This record gives sequence, C-alpha cells and structure tokens, in this order.
Amino acid sequence: MEQTPKRSSFSGKLGFVLAAAGSAVGLGNIWRFPYLAAKYGGGIFLLCYLILAVTFGFALMVAEIAIGRKTRQSAIKAYGVLDKRFRFLGPLCSVVPIIITPYYCVIGGWVLKYLSVYVTGNGAAVSDGNFFTKFISSSSPMVWFIIFVVITVVIVMTGVEKGIEKVSKFMMPLLVLLSLGIAIYCLTLPGAMDGVIYYLKPDFSKFSITTVLAAMGQLFYSMSLAMGIMITYGSYMKKDTSLSSAVHQIEIFDTGIAFLAGLMIIPAVFSFTGGADINAGPGLMFMTLPKVFGSITITNIIGTLFFLLVFFAALTSSISLTETVVSIICDKTGMKRISGCIITAVILLALGTLSALGYGVLSQIQIIGMAFLDFFDFVSNSVLMPIVAFITCILVGYVIKPKVIIDEAEESGPFKGKKLFVIVIKYVAPICIIAILISSILNSLH
Ligand code: PHE
Repeated sequence: MEQTPKRSSFSGKLGFVLAAAGSAVGLGNIWRFPYLAAKYGGGIFLLCYLILAVTFGFALMVAEIAIGRKTRQSAIKAYGVLDKRFRFLGPLCSVVPIIITPYYCVIGGWVLKYLSVYVTGNGAAVSDGNFFTKFISSSSPMVWFIIFVVITVVIVMTGVEKGIEKVSKFMMPLLVLLSLGIAIYCLTLPGAMDGVIYYLKPDFSKFSITTVLAAMGQLFYSMSLAMGIMITYGSYMKKDTSLSSAVHQIEIFDTGIAFLAGLMIIPAVFSFTGGADINAGPGLMFMTLPKVFGSITITNIIGTLFFLLVFFAALTSSISLTETVVSIICDKTGMKRISGCIITAVILLALGTLSALGYGVLSQIQIIGMAFLDFFDFVSNSVLMPIVAFITCILVGYVIKPKVIIDEAEESGPFKGKKLFVIVIKYVAPICIIAILISSILNSLH
C-alpha cells in the first residue's frame, strides 16, 4: 500500500479488487446463498438474484465506491459531506454492521466446531443427520462463538490483517478449486440431477415478492452493500483505477463463488434426502455437506480442508466487519483504538450470546416468530439495508444527481453501463425497493 500524506490507498486495480472481493466473499456466499436459494424455489431465486446483481448491485456498488472516492471519507461522514440533510444516513447504515457482526461470529463459531471435529478425526459423527440439531440446541455454540470472536478481535487489535490477507490470497483460489471438485462430485451422486434442475430451472409458479426481497437482501449482504463498507473502501481507491471495471470484476467473483456453493449443496440435498431438507434454513450447509464427505473414504481430510477454507473466508469478512464497528465507535467517541476494540468485543459478545443460544436455552424466546439469529438477520437484510439503499438512491438520483457519480467514475476511464446506472438509480431501484418493502410488511402483518 502506498502512503499519501492524508489517506493511504490501494496500490492499483488488482489490489482494490482483491481487497473488496475479500470483504465480499464470505459466509454470505457459501453458507447463506445456498440455503436461501434452496428455500425460495431454486431456479427462480437464482434468476432474481442474477437480474438484481447486474442492475441494483452494479448501480449501488458504483455509487458507494464513487461516493467514498469523491469525499475521501468513511460512510459515517461521507453522506453529510455530499449534502448536510443526509447526514443521518451515516449513523443509520452504521447500525447494520453492529447487528450483523455478532451473529456472523456465531456462524463462524459453527464452522470452527466442524473444523475441530474433522481435525480430530471424528468426521463420521458429523454425517449423522442429528449432529447439527443436537449441537445448536446445546450450549456448545457459545464456546465456539467466543473463540471466533477472540481470534477476530485479537487480529483487528494487533493489526495482523495484512498477514491474513496474504494467506487468504492463496486460500481463496484453493477454496474455489475445492468447491469445484466437490460440486462436480455432487453432480455424480444418484438423484443429484433433480437438484440441478431445481437449482437452474426457474419455476415461475414459485415466484413471490418474498423471493425478490430475499434475493435483494442477499445481494446487499453478499456484496457488502448498504452498510457503508464500500464507501470506506472507495475512500482508499486511487483516482486512476477504473471504477466500473473494478465493480464488474468484484461482482463476477462474488456471484461466481455463490453460484458454485449452490451447485455444491443443492444437488446434494436432493441426493441424500430427496429434497426433504430443502427448507432447512441456516443449518443447511452444516447438515448436507458432511453427508457428502461421509460417502468418501477420506472424509476427515476433505472435511478438514473444506471447513478450514470456509473458516478463512469467514475470518477475512469478520475482520472487515469488526474493523468497521471499531472505526465507527472510535470516530464517534474519539476513543483510542484499543478501547474501541474492547467495547466492540463487549458488544459482539453481548449480542452474539443471544444468537448463539437462540436455538438452545433461549429457544423459548421468539421475536415475531423468529429465533434471535434469524431475527437479527431479517432486521438487517430485509429491513435496514433496503432502507439505506433506497435513501442512497434518492440522494444520488435526485439530490446530488447521477452526474456527480458518473464524473467521478469517468475520471478513471470510460464508464461502461452509464445509461443503465442512471435508470436504475433514479427509477427502477427506488420504486422496486419501496414496493417490495411495503408488500413484505403487509405480508408479515397477515
Ligand atoms: N459480504 C460478506 C459475506 O458475504 C459479509 C460482509 C458484509 C463482510 C459486510 C464484510 C462487510 O459473507
């Protein structure tokens, strides 16, 4: 990284794309995308997701990165610099990572638990169908969650992210290769083709507004949008790095890994349970994949390797999420970094405990019919992020005007997709987001 007197920056396009992709690719792609695709009708969800990715995802990511690069501020101040009346958007989008990070670390803990089981050679135990349910209804997720938080916070505190980044540069390609291998293997399982058809062929009778809302929430989550993160990344981007082509590359990378994860998990669900587990929700990856490994003699090796790679993908994302929370707290209170880290750890542990025990001792407590983890996930992805995205569209489309963003993007070369950008930001995105939000609220009231 090159240091400038005021603000450090990424060395070039590759550096920027890799860093942004490192934040984007995480549990969202490998754990969250497949279970949502399975739950919301397979092909139809995939289709909605892809359409949203090339329209909404593209426009919003360009807008956020350009806002960051133009203002050279992180989200909490950037909106206010563009227009004083939109200052409130900074604190609003800062709430999102504060809600997401704790439960992200809970899932990270589940990954660690599985890793430990495989490393110790007990892989066979996991392929038993009830392992996951027994695990999350016990208090053991709490222990693994705490370990995951400690690892993340210590890395953020001591600033060894650079080392982690280096490691993940070869871990990521390895994850892609292994996923590819597992996906190909899954496709050869008996009955897998039903899953492939379910995943790839849109069934329009399964279309509903909830599918679109779920796909939209997933898009924001997976691409780290609507929570100010890409603004911060943009503020470190150099003026001569091509913005629109960087966004294209990040999107292809992120969507490609999610697609592959679906191909790995959904056919396996059909092969092993004839599709019965399709609505399993957050537990899907943990229940299905071990069965795949279970039928391979080298279960423990593959299991260890796979969960190690997922752990790394989760860790790079949790570091970037935690870093965001720390900087929000430090920026707001003027606190020293070390105190910021400690406060963040306390928040993570307090909120995460609810999610970690939410399927166990706290399972009696449900908020609007959901366990804590599902509730936090719903509030951030299906409520707050769409609201932040909507207000960002209004700010860019009508207050500062799209031209400001286009000019910023064009400083670094041609802006491919300029017309699409204007139409999406001004009309398509705001209208769709509002329509989807209102109908989902009406739905949940019924
Ligand atoms: N995009 C990450 C994922 O898919 C989650 C994340 C969001 C990470 C925001 C960092 C910042 O897992």
